[in-house]
Amino acid sequence: MIEPTLARARILLIVGGGVAAYKALDLVRRLRERGASVRVAMTAAAREFVTPLSFEALSGQPVRFDLFALTEDSGMGHIEFSREADLVVVAPATANLLARMAQGLADDLATTTLLATDKRALLAPAMNLRMWLHPATQRNVATLRGDGALFVGPDDGEMACGEYGPGRMAEPLAIVAAIERALQEPTAIPLPPGVGARPGKAQTSGVLAGRRVVVTSGPTQEPIDPVRYLGNRSSGRQGHAIAAAARAAGAETILVSGPTGLPDPPDVAVVRIETALEMQAAVRAALPADIFIAAAAVADWRVDRASEQKLKKRGAGAPTLTLTENPDILAEVATLRKGRPSLVIGFAAETENLVDNARRKLARKGCDLIVANSVAAKDGGFGGPDNQATIVSHDGVEAWPRMAKTELASALIALAAKRLEKGR
Ligand code: PMT
Repeated sequence: MIEPTLARARILLIVGGGVAAYKALDLVRRLRERGASVRVAMTAAAREFVTPLSFEALSGQPVRFDLFALTEDSGMGHIEFSREADLVVVAPATANLLARMAQGLADDLATTTLLATDKRALLAPAMNLRMWLHPATQRNVATLRGDGALFVGPDDGEMACGEYGPGRMAEPLAIVAAIERALQEPTAIPLPPGVGARPGKAQTSGVLAGRRVVVTSGPTQEPIDPVRYLGNRSSGRQGHAIAAAARAAGAETILVSGPTGLPDPPDVAVVRIETALEMQAAVRAALPADIFIAAAAVADWRVDRASEQKLKKRGAGAPTLTLTENPDILAEVATLRKGRPSLVIGFAAETENLVDNARRKLARKGCDLIVANSVAAKDGGFGGPDNQATIVSHDGVEAWPRMAKTELASALIALAAKRLEKGR
């Protein structure tokens, strides 16, 4: 039976050079059986394992492997080639290919296509277990996840080299299932703010006219498995109100937001993310800016290796989650050597020693101003319509009265505009 999502799908398959390349032939067959069209690009190493002719026969389309060949698929440049698919799949994704992708290299057709594409990539790693477990590979995987890449596998099993452990490419049917899951979500990668059509463009009037403001808002969600995550109670009300106030003050405004139930503030460019790594990547893409305001409640830790499958109760006790520290986005922006925003404002959500903790954060993170809010009380900070802020800066401490989050946002933007004028 033809599956509706795959029947409409155009898959671009990039085959890397590994023993598992032969399994990619079966993957093409399975996808075509389900009605998908498959274009194949091969690296030079992949052609040492399987011939282009085999892929051509199974896909029914010419295979591409040369960035500069004029005879291949004449008329279609690599940019067009990279964009005519609904999803880009890399199988096998070798350690070398992952490293080149993580670095953003574009030194052959495969990596150029991956850099130029406007669609998400689903990667099926395959390599020796020591190569997979090597910190360099794990760093590359984390970077690629942060860049929005999806992963399927690798599986545990016997390697071609005789060792046993993680590194075997996922089976073709598991990759097909992952492709179907990926196609349920939008696969197009939006252009970063400031490129193409520009919502949130600076106005010519208002205290922040001509300025650019980047705001983070809401929680991050760090996956445990496909259905569970680590999160927090941030609703995004405070961050969204700040973005709306910045926009009302005339600034080109980019809001990088975790999952919230809130509508987008009018005329603000909104970049939606789920994890801290995604928020970090989105903030990097949104900079440079005149003002950066970090109102998001970013999870300090993420699960080291989220499970690909839903964790099951197997009667062997609760699972143990190993956590890894997330990057500190505020500290990263505040300590940028090049392109640091003129004004960097952080928040501090504290349950005790509000001012002392806020002062420590001000120094540790290197920002210009901290908005400290107590989240100890039931109606404090998280979720509700009001907030009580204490402004902590190198100039001193000022406690503001409790007010609506929208009012607090306007007051903060007015303060930011004044400081910007004075040069912090
Ligand atoms: O969203 P609401 O329901 O309206 O609630 C608003 C709020 C309480 C979430 C908001 O006012 C607030 O206090 N946000 C910051 C919450 C927080 O995570 O504070 P923190 O003390 O853990 O972090 C300090 C600062 O570093 C924050 O600016 C935070 O965005 C930033 N940070 C933290 C960790 C990290 N990995 N990266 C960061 O950028």
